[in-house]
This record gives sequence, structure tokens and C-alpha cells, in this order.
Amino acid sequence: MALDRFVNSLETMLEEARASLQSVNSADALEQLRVKFVGAKNGALKSVQKMLAEVAPEDRPAAGKRFNEVREALQAALDGAAERFASGGAAKSAQPTIDPTLPGLRPRVGAIHPITQTLEHLKEIMGRLGFSVTEGPEIEDEWHNFVALNIPDDHPARDPLDNFYLATAKSADPSCNSAPAARLMRSQTSTVQIRVMESQPLPLRIISLGRVYRPDAPDATHFPMFHQMEGLWVDRNVTMTQLKSVLRLFATSYLGGDVNVRFRPSFFPFTEPSVEVDYWWNGQWIEFGGAGMVDPNVFASVNIDPEKWSGFAFGLGVERLCMRRFGITDIRDLYRSDVRFLRQFAS
Ligand code: DAH
Repeated sequence: MALDRFVNSLETMLEEARASLQSVNSADALEQLRVKFVGAKNGALKSVQKMLAEVAPEDRPAAGKRFNEVREALQAALDGAAERFASGGAAKSAQPTIDPTLPGLRPRVGAIHPITQTLEHLKEIMGRLGFSVTEGPEIEDEWHNFVALNIPDDHPARDPLDNFYLATAKSADPSCNSAPAARLMRSQTSTVQIRVMESQPLPLRIISLGRVYRPDAPDATHFPMFHQMEGLWVDRNVTMTQLKSVLRLFATSYLGGDVNVRFRPSFFPFTEPSVEVDYWWNGQWIEFGGAGMVDPNVFASVNIDPEKWSGFAFGLGVERLCMRRFGITDIRDLYRSDVRFLRQFAS
């Protein structure tokens, strides 16, 4: 093959490639062109390279030199087009331009959830009254949630319909045929009384705040998860008078002003006597929880001698306290995760 025919083919290909690359307007199209011209299998450059073998041997060095030049030029043209995309040639024009005269976007500042604020506030007040904070697990066994709290097997509070029992996994070991211990989401923070008395030396004065779970249909005053503040004071000669004083001091501090406390006789298996606790607030009596003197059976279950020790316990609803203070009327609003609502209570 004559040298000029070979060089012609090379040049035609280069021109064609440059023309197509000039008008290419997408990364996909560019890739197609790359394959078409320098593709390793059937690229145009490859076909011309094959023709090199047909060039007369004396012309081959010149042909090879020209071939290399064209190959480099072709690669440069491809690189140039690729760069247009990378530096945003086409892409850039698709982006919105910035208008520096517009006001800026304010960064959103988070707020502490009203329930968390309340929990912190309660701990702070009770801390000043000498109560230290303890915690217990939210998944409980029947011993801590019922048995040790003097709630017998046939007590309605243990009804599966009133508790979130867990579907406990059966043991994988066939030689172990004992039934797995029942577990449930704790239905009250009184469980922590037992855990504390099992593990801490006397005397003790603790509160425990946390979530409890009951299968209640949600409405303005019920939710299947809510919080309680449990209190327990065990010492020599603890009396009901001290219980009332603590609850009154607490309420005065939390609700503000001089808050009256009313005890109404009631029944709880773990206290004797037991009372419902009402606060006179904003012109009405409002029930906030239950309380009483620790039942001797409860002391017995944790090996504390009721002849030597006495104690009081109370359990208050945290949502109620929070809602009263913040003027919230529907408990469900607390758990809808609607930041427009929650942001109002940013402190
Ligand atoms: N655990 C009770 C409940 O969930 C509240 C309660 C009542 C707690 C009396 C106490 C108590 O510690 O003494 O309704």
C-alpha cells in the first residue's frame, strides 16, 4: 500500500473524530465515541493500525511515525472532551446559579424534648431532697415486675391483655426442657425498688425515672408507653408524715407556689397503707400517682427485716407533670415527633 493512502486514512479518521467530539454533549455519547475510535477491539485506530502491515517496508518507519502522532492527537482530543464534563462544562450549566442577594438559610437548632426536660428537672429537685438516681431495665422478669412486689399469680395486673409479654425464644438445647422465664416490658417503675433493695445497703433514698409500657389504646390521656418517677426511702422509723412532706415539697418546687397535697385511701399490693396522691393546682385536685408504706411482704421478698426497717414508696406519672407545667392537653402530641410542636418548648 502506498504511503500517502495510509496517511490519508489516518488523517480522515482524526478529522472525523475531532468533528464528532466537538459537538458531543453527554458523557454517554463521549464514551460511545471513545469506543468507536480507540476501542481495543474494533476501534477505527485499530483498523488503520492493521493497514500498517500492508505499507511497503521502506515506507514503514514514516508511516509508523505518523500513526503515533495521530494516535496521540486522537487521545488528546478525547481527553479534552472528557475534561469538559469533569469540570462541569455541560453539567455546570444545569446547576442553579446562586443569587447572593437572597437571605441566607438559618441553621436549625435542636431542642430538648419536653419529657427529657421534665426528667432532668425532677431529678434536680429530688436530688436536693437527698434522693439519688438509679435505673433499671425496661425488659423485666416476673419476679421484679410482680412476684417480689406482692402481686400474686392470679392478680388481674398480670393479665396478658394488660402487659406486653415478650415471645421468649425457646431454648435450643433439647436436653433443657424447663420453660424459658417469662419476660415483659415493665409495666411500672416499682420494679426498681426491688432491684435496689436486692443490691444496695440500707438505709437508702432513691428515685428512678424511666419508661413503662401498657397496651392501652392511645387517646388524649393514654399512651402505650409513658414515664414514671418512682421513689423509695427505707430507714429506721420512716413515717407517712415524711412521705407527705416529701411529696409536698416536691410539688411546691416543681409546680411553683404553695401546692397542697391530698391523700385518698387506695390499694396497691406493694404498700400498706396505700394512697392516691392528688395535688391542688390551678383551682382543682389533680391525681398524679400512688404512694404508701412499703408492705412487709415486699421487705420479706428482699430479705429485709420489717421489724427493724420501714419505708415509703411513691410512683408519679411524668407525662402528667410535664403536661400540666407546659400546658399540653394531649399526650399523643408528645410522641408524634412533630418538630413544629416540640420546638415550642425549647428552653
Ligand atoms: N406502680 C404504681 C402504678 O404503676 C404506682 C405506685 C403506687 C408506685 C404506689 C408506688 C406506690 O411506689 O407506693 O400505678
